[in-house]
Amino acid sequence: MSDTIQPEIAERIKQLEKKFKNSGQDLGSYLDGLLYDRYLTYWDYIHLDTLLSLQIPRTHFPDEEIFITYHQITELYFKLIIHELKQIIDDKLQTATFFIEKINRVNRYFRVLIDSFDVMIKGMDREQFLQYRMSLLPASGFQSVQYRMIEIYATPLQHLVNEKERASFEKEESLEVLYDHLYWKSGATDIKTGEKTLTLKQFEYRYTPRMMRIAEQVKNSTIYHKYLDLPEKEKNNAQLIEALRTFDANVNINWLLMHMGAAFRYLNKDKGEVSATGGTNWKKFLPPSFQKIMFFPNLWSEAEKEEWGKQWVTHQFNTAKK
Ligand code: HEM
Repeated sequence: MSDTIQPEIAERIKQLEKKFKNSGQDLGSYLDGLLYDRYLTYWDYIHLDTLLSLQIPRTHFPDEEIFITYHQITELYFKLIIHELKQIIDDKLQTATFFIEKINRVNRYFRVLIDSFDVMIKGMDREQFLQYRMSLLPASGFQSVQYRMIEIYATPLQHLVNEKERASFEKEESLEVLYDHLYWKSGATDIKTGEKTLTLKQFEYRYTPRMMRIAEQVKNSTIYHKYLDLPEKEKNNAQLIEALRTFDANVNINWLLMHMGAAFRYLNKDKGEVSATGGTNWKKFLPPSFQKIMFFPNLWSEAEKEEWGKQWVTHQFNTAKK
C-alpha cells in the first residue's frame, strides 16, 4: 500500500483547512478529534436507551404502559405536525406547491393518529383502565400543550372562542380577552360558579405565558392568514383547498371522534358516566358537533358547518352501546 495521499483526499484536507482557518480554528485539533471519536451507532443516534426509559407507569397494572406509550407516540407526531406548521408560517415565498406539500405531511401524520386510535379504544382492559386512572388524577390529555399549539398555529384565537360567544367576539382584537374565552377554558369552568377545574388551573399556571407568546407571535401569520395572503391564483388551487379542508376535518372532527370513542368505551355507563380525570363534563365538551371548532370556516359551506361532526356523533353513541 502506498503512503501517498490520494489527490481527492488531499483536496478535501485543503478545503477543511480553509474552513477551519476562516473561523480561527486549527484543523489538526479537529483531525485529532476525528481520530479518537467512536463510530456512531443507531442506538446512540436515536437515544434509544433514553427513549425506552421514559415509560414509567404509576401503578402495577400492565395496561398502563400502553396508555403512557401511546400518549408519547401521539405527542411525537404532534411535534412533527408543529414542525411543518412552523415552516409554512415562516415561509416568505408563498407558493401553493410548498403549502400543499407541508399540509399533506400534516395530514399524513394525523391519518396515522386517527387510524391508530383503536390501540386505545380496543387495546386496553377496561377494568384495569378504570383502576389505574385513579392514580393519574387530576392529569388529563386536556393538558396537552402541543395540541393547543397546533390550534394556535393553525387559526386566529377568534375561531377558538367557545361556540356560544364566538359570533360576538369576531371583532375582538385583544389576545388576552380572546384567550379567556377559548372553548377549552370554558369547557373546564363551572358555568354557575365560575370555578375552574384544578386540571385547568395547573395547565394555565404552567403554560399561559408560552401560549400568549405564541399567539402574539402568529397574530397575523397563522396558517389561516398565510392562506388568505397567498396571491389570488395560488389561493384558488383546488389541491390546496382540499388539503386544508382535510387538515381541518382531521383535527376537528375525525381525531376528536376517535378520541371520543375511547372516552365512551371507558367512561360511559348505562346509567350516568364515570367522571373524567380532567373534571370536564366530557359528554358535552368532547363532541365536535358541540364545539364546532373550525380552523378555516371560510372553506366550508353553511350546510357543511351546520352538519359539523354530526353524523359521527350518532355513530359513536351507537357503537359505544354495542
Ligand atoms: C383511553 C383513552 C383516553 C380517554 C378515556 C380520554 C379521555 C379524555 C377526556 C374525558 C377528556 C376531557 C377532559 C377531561 O375532563 O379529562 C379528554 C381530553 C383530551 N384528551 Fe383524552 N383520552 C384518552 C386518550 C387520549 C390520548 C391518547 C391523547 C393524546 C395526546 C389525548 C388527548 C386529549 C386532548 C388533546 C384533550 C382535549 C380535547 C379538546 O380540547 O377538545 N387523549 N380526554
